[in-house]
Amino acid sequence: MEPAPHRIQVIAHRGSSEDAPEHTLAAYRKAIEDGADALECDVRLTADGHLVCVHDRRVNRVSNGRGAVSAMELAQLNELDFGSWMTPSGIAETPDAADPERTTVLTLERLLRLVADAGRPIGLAIETKHPTRWAGRVEERLLEVLARYPLPGEVRVMSFSARSLQRVRRAAPELPTVFLMHFLLPRNRSGRLPAAAAIAGPGIRILRRDPGYVERAHRAGHRVHVWTVDDPADVELCARLGVDAIITNRPLTVREQLTRM
Ligand code: G3P
Ligand code: CA
Repeated sequence: MEPAPHRIQVIAHRGSSEDAPEHTLAAYRKAIEDGADALECDVRLTADGHLVCVHDRRVNRVSNGRGAVSAMELAQLNELDFGSWMTPSGIAETPDAADPERTTVLTLERLLRLVADAGRPIGLAIETKHPTRWAGRVEERLLEVLARYPLPGEVRVMSFSARSLQRVRRAAPELPTVFLMHFLLPRNRSGRLPAAAAIAGPGIRILRRDPGYVERAHRAGHRVHVWTVDDPADVELCARLGVDAIITNRPLTVREQLTRM
C-alpha cells in the first residue's frame, strides 16, 4: 500500500485574521468555517487573573482604549471595542461596530468553548506572551483553564521563552510544547531544541535562509510548525520542505493552495 501523503496542518494565526479582527470570536469562527486544523492565539493575564487573547502588551493598536492588559481588569477590557479598527475590507476609517463577536475582547475560556462546540476536532496552539514577569502565573492559569475543557483536538503550548515551556512541561508533560524562534541560535542550528520543547517553531525567514533546517529538526526528532506564512511562494517552500504545520492569517487560501499541489 502507498504511504499516506504527508498532510500539512493549517493553523489559523489569531483566527482568520485577514478577514476579521484578530483574536476575536468572529475571526476564530471564520477560521473553523475556513477548514483550519487548529487555532493559534496569544494569551495575556489581566490584573484580576483572567487569560485574554491579545497579542500586544498594550491594547492601543487593536482597541479604542489605552493601557497595558496586565494593568486592566476583565470588566474594563469588556468596555472596549476590539474590532472597529478593522472593517471587512480592512479599512480602518469605516467602523463596523455592530457585531459584538467582532468587537469584544476574547477570553481563553470563551475560545475553548467555541472549539469544544465546533463539531469536529480542532487543535489549539496557545502562545504565552511575556510570561517571565508573572513568575509562572500565566502557565498555572493556562493549565487550570485547559483542564476544565478537555478537547478532542491537539493542544500545544508555544513560547519564545524556554522557561515558560519548562514550566508547562513540568506541570503537564503530556502537552506538546513549541519553541518559537525568530532566528537560529548556534545551539539550535543542528535541529536541537531546549529540553522542554517538543516541536520546533521557526519563523518563515529562517527557512528562506536555511531550508535545510526542516530536515535537521526532523532528524533530531522534532515536528516543525512555521509562522507566519501568508505568501504563496512561502507556502510552496514549506510544502517542498515537508513542514508539519503552517501558521497563517489566511487559512482558507493556504489550504486551497496545498490541496492544488
Ligand atoms: O505563531 C507564532 C507567532 O504568532 C509568533 O509571533 O508576534 O505573531 O505572536 P507573533
Ligand atoms: Ca502568536
